Amino acid sequence: MNNRTEQPALSRRRLIAGAAGTAAAGAAAGAGVTAAVLRSGDRGASTVPGASGTDTVDLTRSVLFYDQVNQAGIRTPPQRHCVYMTFKLTPGATKQSLQVLLARWSAAISQLVQGKSIGPIEPDRPAAVSTDTGEASGLAPASLTVTVGLGPGVFDDRFDLAAKRPALLKELPRIPGDTLQAELTGGDLSLQACADDPQVAYHAVRNLARMVTNTAQTHWVVLGFGRASAGPGQETPRNLMGFKDGTRNVSSDADYDNFVWLKDADWMTGGTYQVVRKVLMTIETWDFDRISDQQRIFGRTKDAGAPLSGSKEFDTPDFALKADGAHVIDPASHIALAAPENNGGVKILRRGYNFTDGLNAQGLLDAGLLFLSYQNDPQHFVNLQQKLGSFDLLNEYIRHVGSGIFAIPPGPKAGRYIGQEMFE
Ligand code: HEM
Repeated sequence: MNNRTEQPALSRRRLIAGAAGTAAAGAAAGAGVTAAVLRSGDRGASTVPGASGTDTVDLTRSVLFYDQVNQAGIRTPPQRHCVYMTFKLTPGATKQSLQVLLARWSAAISQLVQGKSIGPIEPDRPAAVSTDTGEASGLAPASLTVTVGLGPGVFDDRFDLAAKRPALLKELPRIPGDTLQAELTGGDLSLQACADDPQVAYHAVRNLARMVTNTAQTHWVVLGFGRASAGPGQETPRNLMGFKDGTRNVSSDADYDNFVWLKDADWMTGGTYQVVRKVLMTIETWDFDRISDQQRIFGRTKDAGAPLSGSKEFDTPDFALKADGAHVIDPASHIALAAPENNGGVKILRRGYNFTDGLNAQGLLDAGLLFLSYQNDPQHFVNLQQKLGSFDLLNEYIRHVGSGIFAIPPGPKAGRYIGQEMFE
């Protein structure tokens, strides 16, 4: 195996880039941009959001693959970029070829997360084809994680695996408001590759797809950027509607135990369920909505991200507070409908990304949120989305067009592969 981290010309390896650092501020000043027009999230002394220095990217960082109880890419602090791809098993796929696919993917992922290539980029024999496509050569690991998911189709009558079906894995029901497109829905397998370098994430998915073409064909893909969720020590990022996203999320050990990881679930213990939704935003309309309405829709202020009942981002929303006889946080606002206080205490882990597909056929911005959630019971997502899809004020500006559900097996032990327990 080539080790691309050992190559000499690795200018990026030592790059430690802040969310916005002095270089960005200097470049803006050099371009004649005054402090007054720099994006000022805080209106304070610091003119650039993220300049606190706590939210940095270290491209040399790598994430462990083997001997972790859970697969990486779920609790891992969200990286900046994501390539999410689903696959359909081919008509010729068998139980054995599925087994080989999972074994080959696991071995390859274990190399990729270390910043290594998966085989020769430049083979000795002139007639040979490159094993690794090469575009990540010279790039650092960039905290790459690749999370592998198994769709309901893996456990139908094709592969003699029905007895191993994860107890709560079934297709999502039709949910109010859904405008799903068949070409963006479902799949037998999913790969969520996240990294702080988009080319590293893309390289991983491209090479994993390429090595299994006889068994699995690509189905749909979303290229995500600008994480729309935060981990410990990370500042809350913003979605494409300009609001902070990820303020109230699963974060403590107790929350992960109660709401994310599967316990006493046979071979799936340590695993979880992934729900994915491709959500389009009607950005042009949103951008001309008045600020008071935008804030009413979310129940939060746009700049600070504070609940309308408070003044700071992490103030606990007071959904009962009234002014002039009306609720300060509209009961049909996004957070009022989704908050655990109003859903029997239930939480889901949200780990979304912004995405854009450029312009649509009408010349409008084609963009939105790649919504990814992890929960130990998919019904938790369904219950929430049934409520949101029916009543959320946000619905005027979004459309769910893609969807999928996948069981996420636990992390593999050294020398084993993801999902191996299914075949034993
Ligand atoms: C384009 C679609 C969506 C956008 C733009 C969006 C945006 C937001 C924003 C800005 C917040 C407030 C900040 C925060 O606490 O993170 C939030 C909170 C939340 N969202 Fe969404 N969201 C979307 C879809 C969804 C979906 C599909 C679900 C689940 C079915 C969901 C569940 C939640 C939950 C549980 C919270 C936390 C509420 C709280 O505890 O206060 N969101 N979302």
